[in-house]
Amino acid sequence: MKNRRTFLKNTILGSLALGYTGAYLYGGLHPENPMIVPESYNPWIELSRSAYLRNAKLISEKANGRGILAVLKNNAYGLGDVEVAQILDESPFVHGFALVNDRRCLALRTNGVKKAILLMGDFDQDLGLQLVQNNITLSAFSMESTEKIIGLASTYSGQVLVELYLDTGLGRMGMPYGKGVEWVKKLSNIPNIRIEGMYSTLTTPEDFAKEQITRFQGVVSQLEEMDINVPKLHIAPSLSMLQLPESHFSMVRPGILLHGSHPLVDMKATDTLALQPTYRLRARVIRVEKLKKGDTIGFSRFYKLENDEWIATLPIGWADGYFSGAENGAKVLVNNELFKVVNVNASHCNLSIGSEKSLEVGDVATLIGPDRPEITPEGFSELSNGHNYLQIQYKESIPKIVSDAF
Ligand SMILES: Cc1ncc(COP(=O)(O)O)c(C=O)c1O
Repeated sequence: MKNRRTFLKNTILGSLALGYTGAYLYGGLHPENPMIVPESYNPWIELSRSAYLRNAKLISEKANGRGILAVLKNNAYGLGDVEVAQILDESPFVHGFALVNDRRCLALRTNGVKKAILLMGDFDQDLGLQLVQNNITLSAFSMESTEKIIGLASTYSGQVLVELYLDTGLGRMGMPYGKGVEWVKKLSNIPNIRIEGMYSTLTTPEDFAKEQITRFQGVVSQLEEMDINVPKLHIAPSLSMLQLPESHFSMVRPGILLHGSHPLVDMKATDTLALQPTYRLRARVIRVEKLKKGDTIGFSRFYKLENDEWIATLPIGWADGYFSGAENGAKVLVNNELFKVVNVNASHCNLSIGSEKSLEVGDVATLIGPDRPEITPEGFSELSNGHNYLQIQYKESIPKIVSDAF
């Protein structure tokens, strides 16, 4: 033990990994203090297993017990698709996972994820067999993708699982709903293609989302008349699942809610759930210096010191995905105290710590986390004029730790 501060720091980090309760996280001491977060992790992300599992339960309850198809695209919105899928694989409320990248679907399987996986995007023909052998459900979203799937099924002896992606008005992906019936007929005649589900995506304006639901339902009814019963139907991302119960169909398909944030910064209170932010974005202080009145910080010299001030540096910036707008008013928690972010560059950011040297090199800073309202993803977005999907920018290379401690 080098000094009390090092001991304290090691204890805090060790307690996280060992799963001790929050009491040890901020200042409490514990005799077992192995340094679990390696020094090379700077910054890093801690994921809360219990927060993910609680959020999934709350979401499913809101959808009257329906299952969740958890959208983990874009590396689970920057938080680690494998790690989050491994956590939610344990949840009885989660039916499966939806991603848009074929290789990431396979990565989930390689890492032991057992639940259903839906690929909501295109696939590389060379990976086709591997995908179906790993029970990954493919999406037919256009005539070309349908032909590709039919071609794949002709070379495979087992069943190819397929979901039908309909465009009901988002205009981005999926077969336009007017062409839906003829197209489904074509696919439903191939013996080793099993149509497992049909889905679409709702837009944000409520009245148009309602029109989309009518269009979707119209295709479902037409298929039923032809004796084609599609077992799973899903259309609702987070916003519509909160606002429109008629969007729930057989399962709901949220992304952002699972991570503990609402889709919009200014949601009506009646449309919100008591979600828990699921992660901490952390870094250790690497420099503490006293700068002088009149000095400036950063390339644009955005922050000018009005008095002599201690300034701390964290090795995280916008190249890591930390929102550059943080310098507009965001706060960071260190040693139980909030400090103002005064500069964000590509690889570093700076905190103003005032006239006293109250921080040391090595102190652990929480840039985002559940610990104070100001640093939750939603609180941070409000202070920095951001949006609630901010974590989607986090660089994949930021190491992740799954914690049972918060
Ligand atoms: C097809 C589809 N479904 C669901 C979602 C989840 O959206 P949200 O994170 O707003 O719940 C997305 C996200 O972009 C999506 O593309």
